[in-house]
Amino acid sequence: AKLWKGKSLLTLKNHTPEEIKSLLNLAIELKKQRQLGRHNDLLKGKNIVLLFEKTSTRTRCAFEVAMMQEGGNATFLDMKDSQMGKKESVEDTAKVLGRYYEGIEFRGYHQETVEMLAKHAGVPVWNGLTDEYHPTQILADWMTIMEKLDKPLEEVTFAYVGDARNNMANSLMIGAAKMGMNFRAVSPASLAPDKTLMQEMQEVAMETGAKIQWFENPIEGVKGADVIYTDVWVSMGEEDQFEERIKRLMPYQVNEFLMSKTGNPDTIFMHCLPAFHDTETIIGKEVYDQHGISELEVTDAVFRSEQSVVFDEAENRMHTIKAMLVATMGSSGHF
Ligand code: CP
Ligand code: NVA
Repeated sequence: AKLWKGKSLLTLKNHTPEEIKSLLNLAIELKKQRQLGRHNDLLKGKNIVLLFEKTSTRTRCAFEVAMMQEGGNATFLDMKDSQMGKKESVEDTAKVLGRYYEGIEFRGYHQETVEMLAKHAGVPVWNGLTDEYHPTQILADWMTIMEKLDKPLEEVTFAYVGDARNNMANSLMIGAAKMGMNFRAVSPASLAPDKTLMQEMQEVAMETGAKIQWFENPIEGVKGADVIYTDVWVSMGEEDQFEERIKRLMPYQVNEFLMSKTGNPDTIFMHCLPAFHDTETIIGKEVYDQHGISELEVTDAVFRSEQSVVFDEAENRMHTIKAMLVATMGSSGHF
């Protein structure tokens, strides 16, 4: 994975299929090494900093554990405790952190912030989610599909159902276009994919053999799908749109009926998590009760079914993030 040395991961748009494939293969190898109990110390002596404006479980922990398992260190910085964006510009912060750390992760609101960090830090910068994109999640998702399905990515029909304008939808579309997949965004017209991004990805698709489509009808959209993927209806920072989203997206809930409409009993269910699938979900309870509903984007039955691979997917966040860390700042060409 020498292709990645010194590079940042900001959107996935600027990376070739070959680069993406090499990271996925490295992640598979690193997972194997871990299962064999081997310690390779591929990030020995490396320090990275994790900047979080928004909350996280998987992304934060995956970065921290990946660093520790390979002999490196991570500093977690809650943006509430830092000067960045308040007393100090993003540019100055990037210049300072770039002198302490070998890499910087950022999760927050604006894509411009992570781009600005990358411009001035002089070290690799990794986008751990912004309002617009969530590129590291795609690596885990494609790795999981490679493990679960008996066919190459180029032959996979992938249906993303739900809010097709959010960070996940954008990044899945980019990742699918790059890898030559058959990608369908399935959503109401008001939440259809961003036109400019879709055109851009259709151009990428002409080179890679991908197919990028939008469907309004959920039943047509999932027909023949190998994967049904969904995400929360209300992303971080959009909490005021809850009522509106429930109204628009209820017909797109991933339930057993919709799963059966793929016509393929082996269709897998994926979700980046966290998911709202039962009344026990911590912050949902009062809201569910108020609306007289108990499940949102996915039913509990589908979430817990045999077809659901969500926890393998979550595990793969760690292996893929580790691969990205090793490939972008690791000291040797191991594996
Ligand atoms: N999927 C994901 O990014 O999870 P976290 O928000 O917990 O990091
Ligand atoms: N679209 C979700 C993804 C969470 C990993 C959000 O931005 O909240």
